[in-house]
Amino acid sequence: MAIKFSRTFLLRKLHQITGIVPLGAFFFVHMFTNSKAMNGEAAFEKAVQELHDTPFLLFIEIFGIFLPLLFHSIYGVIISSEARSNALGYSYARNWFYFFQRATGIFLFVFILFHILNLRFGLIPGLNLTPVAGNADLSFNIIAAEFQIPWVMVFYMLGIAATAWHLAYGIFLFVVDWGIVIGENAQKYTLYACIALAAALFGVGANAAVSFVRPCGLFPQALCEHKSESKPVSKPTAESKRF
Ligand code: HEM
Repeated sequence: MAIKFSRTFLLRKLHQITGIVPLGAFFFVHMFTNSKAMNGEAAFEKAVQELHDTPFLLFIEIFGIFLPLLFHSIYGVIISSEARSNALGYSYARNWFYFFQRATGIFLFVFILFHILNLRFGLIPGLNLTPVAGNADLSFNIIAAEFQIPWVMVFYMLGIAATAWHLAYGIFLFVVDWGIVIGENAQKYTLYACIALAAALFGVGANAAVSFVRPCGLFPQALCEHKSESKPVSKPTAESKRF
C-alpha cells in the first residue's frame, strides 16, 4: 500500500533535517575555526585562507549554507507564528524550552542576517566595510576591531547563546520526533545531554569571541601558542573601523 505524506509533513521534516545537516554541522565547524583565534592572528588567518582555498567554495556556500539557511529560517518563522506556546500558562520546563526554541529562532533570523552582512560582506553602515571574504589576511583585525565595540560583542554573545540553545534543543526535538529516542527515561537523559551540549557550545563560542580581544580567550595565556610575529590586538582606529 502506498503511503501518502502531506506537503506540510514533508516541509516540517525537511525543516528539521536542514537544522541538523548542513546547518548544525556548519556551526560545529565554524566554532572550531573561530577557536583558532586563541592562538593569535597568524593561526586564525591561516585557517580562514584554507577555507577560502576550498574547491567549489561558492557552490558549497550557496547550496550547503545560504539556501538551507534561507529555507530553515523562513519556514521557522512561519512555524513560530503558528505555534501557541503554553509557557505563560504552565510552569513545565518543557513548555519553556519549546518557547525558547521559537524565540531564539526569531532572534537568530535577525542576528545571522546582521552577521553575514557585517563580516562576510562588510555591508553594515557605520561598522567595518571590508568583507572577510577575499581578505583572509585582514580577517583577524577586522573581527578584533568589531569586537572591541561593546554592543557588537554583547550582540555576538547573545547570538552564540541563542545558536547554542537552538541547535542543542533542536537535536533533542529531532531525536524524539523521528522516534530515535522513545522511552520516558531515555528522553529525560537525552534532554540533560542536550542541555549540557548547549552549555558546551556556548562556552566554546564565547571563548572564541573573547580570543579576538584577549590572547587565548578565557584561558590562561600559557596554554596557547602565539607565534612571535603575531601582532597584539590593537584598539580600533578611525581607519581600521572604516566608518
Ligand atoms: C565568535 C563568533 C563568530 C565569529 C568570530 C564569526 C566569524 C565569521 C566570519 C569571519 C565569517 C565570514 C567567513 C568568510 O567569508 O570567510 C562568518 C560567516 C558566517 N557565520 Fe559566523 N562568526 C561567529 C558566530 C556565528 C554564529 C553564532 C552563527 C550562527 C549560526 C554564525 C553563522 C555564520 C554564517 C551562516 C556565515 C556565512 C557562511 C559563509 O559565508 O560561508 N556565525 N562568520
